Amino acid sequence: MEAELDGENFTFDDYSGKETVLEFLESKGVPAPFSCREGNCSACACVVLEGDVKMAHNEVLDDLDLADGIRLTCQATPITEKLRISFNG
Ligand code: FES
Repeated sequence: MEAELDGENFTFDDYSGKETVLEFLESKGVPAPFSCREGNCSACACVVLEGDVKMAHNEVLDDLDLADGIRLTCQATPITEKLRISFNG
């Protein structure tokens, strides 16, 4: 998986997809943003650029957000082998 955060690119090839995207990035020392961790605030939101994820819980993103590729990393696990996300903008 690849993640873009504050102009930095992080690439990992050992993401099993079992934990959430946020948990995985934290386990790698990536300072990914978050607040509630419950799908209620969107502080952890990213844009999916390639691949896709499913979200366990989403109380904050509407259909337009989802159509724009926005996902909550605290609720997201990958459903594709390739996953590229960005926290920028
Ligand atoms: S941290 Fe609040 S929705 Fe993910």
